[in-house]
Amino acid sequence: MSKLLSHDELRAHFAKKFGRSATVIARAPGRVNLIGEHTDYNDGYVLPAAIERETRIAAAPRADGCVHLVAFDLSRETTFDLADVQRSTSEGWSNYIRGVAAGLLAAGYPVQGFDGLIQGDVPIGSGLSSSAAMEMASVQAFSAIGGFVTPSAQAARIGQKAEHLFVGANTGLMDQLASALGQPDHVLLIDCRDLSFRPVPIPAGAAILIADTSVRRSLAASAYNERRAQCEAAAQALSVPALRDGTLAMLDAVALPDVVARRARHVIAEDDRVLETVAALQGGDLHKVGELMNASHASLRDLYEVSSVELDTMVELLRSQPGCYGARLTGAGFGGCAVALMEAGAVDAAIPAVAAVYRMRTGLTPALYPTRAAAGASALTL
Ligand code: GLA
Repeated sequence: MSKLLSHDELRAHFAKKFGRSATVIARAPGRVNLIGEHTDYNDGYVLPAAIERETRIAAAPRADGCVHLVAFDLSRETTFDLADVQRSTSEGWSNYIRGVAAGLLAAGYPVQGFDGLIQGDVPIGSGLSSSAAMEMASVQAFSAIGGFVTPSAQAARIGQKAEHLFVGANTGLMDQLASALGQPDHVLLIDCRDLSFRPVPIPAGAAILIADTSVRRSLAASAYNERRAQCEAAAQALSVPALRDGTLAMLDAVALPDVVARRARHVIAEDDRVLETVAALQGGDLHKVGELMNASHASLRDLYEVSSVELDTMVELLRSQPGCYGARLTGAGFGGCAVALMEAGAVDAAIPAVAAVYRMRTGLTPALYPTRAAAGASALTL
């Protein structure tokens, strides 16, 4: 994982590469989801926070309608023409930005070309939404360079469409919304049906610890798309617009293939858990929040089947630490990260303890880092 460059370093690299000064620095954070997994594409509730890891783009306008991108951490570069935005097969990392450009153009914005240097410290492929960070940072860059404002909900939808059309993952909207709307020290209760949201303060004394299994997600897109289709089949069988509208009683009353019923059971109960978590946070009942997180993990493991041996091991180790309220996998699953809610004072001791036993049990070196909830995407004009 790369280290985040300072603004001065980023500007210096930009000047060296392009022979002129950057005029904008756009940024957008990754996200961690406290609870509400695989509910967003079922029109349900999620409770994510933006994290203190972000993607930045230093940029300066071009007059020829082209976008020239340098991915500093990957040592790759690519150029595309706004007059004909295509997917790239050789520079896959750029498809998020190509997709965003196509989406902004389709929405009628006066999109202008730019030179851009991209750098960041959101680990790639570990379930912390490096892709959404790249999308939301690029919306900010295009908006600042073109002199227009893209409302957050529209920015999120454009990012989602980029994933669907340019990357091939039929994702929901949680990651983009969290990256766009994040607020320091708050999780966001988002209703993924109407995209309304409410910031919920993280109680003082509680801390979020992210634990990366260091297993990159594999086959994630196809397994993810398959689950999404199973949820749609279940909603259809229940005669509801989306599983958000389903109940466990409705589910018990219809005959469904076992696997489809289990997927639906997870989603319906997970939606309730999100609302219960919000109530518990507001009541300062962190033990209850932890129980709900633990129940979410069990459901994702047993009913939704998106956990892994490494995630289960990590979650178990986190829970065994003094001061841990609860832990679960976060994001799509199939590898990636777990999240724990802990007493703030217990985090420092937990990190080396979890890392050592995880390494012994799996032979893998994990990355553990506490994060505060951070602010959503923004752009700075230089
Ligand atoms: C990925 C997707 C999100 C969401 C989560 C699972 O992060 O991008 O839209 O579906 O998985 O909750």
